[in-house]
Amino acid sequence: MQQQIAGQMILAPLTKGGNLPFRRLCADFGMEVSLSEMVYARSLLRGSPVEQARLRRWEGEQMFGVQIATNGVTEGLEAIRKLQESSSATVQFCDLNCGCPIYDVTRRGLGSSLLRSPQKLHKLVKGLVDGTDIPITVKIRVGCESDTINVLENVKAIREAGASAVTIHGRTAQQGYSKDANWELIQQAVAESREAGYGHIPIVGNGDILTHFEARRRMEETGVHSVMVGRGALIKPWIFKEFKDNATWSPTARERIEVYHTLATYMKEHFGDDEIGRKKAWTFLPWHFEFLSRYCSYPEDEFAVQSTEKPLIQSRMPSSTDADDPLDVLLANRSGDAHDVIASILWESDSDEVAFRKLNEFSESVEFNQILMTGSSSEEDQVLANPLPGKAGRWNKRRGRKPGPKRSDEEIAAIRAKRALKKEKIIASGGEWPPN
Ligand SMILES: Cc1cc2nc3c(=O)[nH]c(=O)nc-3n(C[C@H](O)[C@H](O)[C@H](O)COP(=O)(O)O)c2cc1C
Repeated sequence: MQQQIAGQMILAPLTKGGNLPFRRLCADFGMEVSLSEMVYARSLLRGSPVEQARLRRWEGEQMFGVQIATNGVTEGLEAIRKLQESSSATVQFCDLNCGCPIYDVTRRGLGSSLLRSPQKLHKLVKGLVDGTDIPITVKIRVGCESDTINVLENVKAIREAGASAVTIHGRTAQQGYSKDANWELIQQAVAESREAGYGHIPIVGNGDILTHFEARRRMEETGVHSVMVGRGALIKPWIFKEFKDNATWSPTARERIEVYHTLATYMKEHFGDDEIGRKKAWTFLPWHFEFLSRYCSYPEDEFAVQSTEKPLIQSRMPSSTDADDPLDVLLANRSGDAHDVIASILWESDSDEVAFRKLNEFSESVEFNQILMTGSSSEEDQVLANPLPGKAGRWNKRRGRKPGPKRSDEEIAAIRAKRALKKEKIIASGGEWPPN
């Protein structure tokens, strides 16, 4: 286990995001170690088909772990037995969730609430380690409440219990994503583990990685064995390729559409190419655009210095896409209405070429124009921006959305005029429209 994860960029457990078709896409880009969405041990044991489906590994995933949420040794071991027996699951390791901050999870004594007592955590992990032959890893945060940072105690408890690795997300459960992940605490945990003679137990660092150069820098500065990426992979699944190549890849809009179309194709293969399959896939496909629409290119030579001041994923992202090009405007649009249409076009297109042409047409359509005028931003904006808790305002009436920046009629007309001129020029010079 230690050798297999050393120096790797690991895909984080991501509820909803870490569905099998998405992980398959990441594997295409070189991801070697991955985790399932969180599985409730109790629901799995009750025979929940949703939890059962989460155990499935894509055959191209080289090292796949299932993450479970449990607070009991007996329950945890039964769940592990069940996942080992499952014919569709070929699981190389099992990860214990000690990070989930959701109230519904913590009130049941699961997720990040396990961080409150290192002694109890030690007992739980030891029970799991002793009761199974599959490697047990544990994913924690630096603390549960913001005023109780007990990462060193918890790492000690976990390693002494015999866990095969520990992942540290550099935030407390209470924090949300508002503050930057604290990599100094991760570094301290690495140093303390080495001093205590546990340097061979991998510590995986997690939090705010969006580029290959931030990943490398974190590894060098903190001495973590490997890094884990969550949102960074959801925004650009090709982050694994960048990490392997140690180079930024800035795909064109057309290249991104190819990637997105591949995801839709994998969803069709997984859920079924019919109305039922489409219905199932719709929980995921439009949702992915809440992250994919955030993409912008961060070449190392331009952004390496800035990233040392603040993680790029936490910075206000400049749009480095060509904002005058309607297709780029469409792909960067944050409204759920646009995401539904993009997902439909991808689903219905037989080839990348057709998807590209149809998305181009939609980007210049009256329908998209309407979306631009009445623009809305998505639920995920709120999750990522950590809005202050309060009453759902009038914008939250529809799927929790609030309006994004609107473009005036004049701005839209100007974009269209510019686009028309570009089209005319290209066609006049014998070129192809839409351009490749
Ligand atoms: C959509 C979403 C779903 C997540 N689901 C899980 C989960 O099921 N289990 C878990 O341990 N962490 C989960 N997390 C937390 C991530 O695994 C990761 O620790 C966190 O996002 C910080 O890493 P990042 O900055 O690379 O995103 C989730 C995060 C996101 C954004």
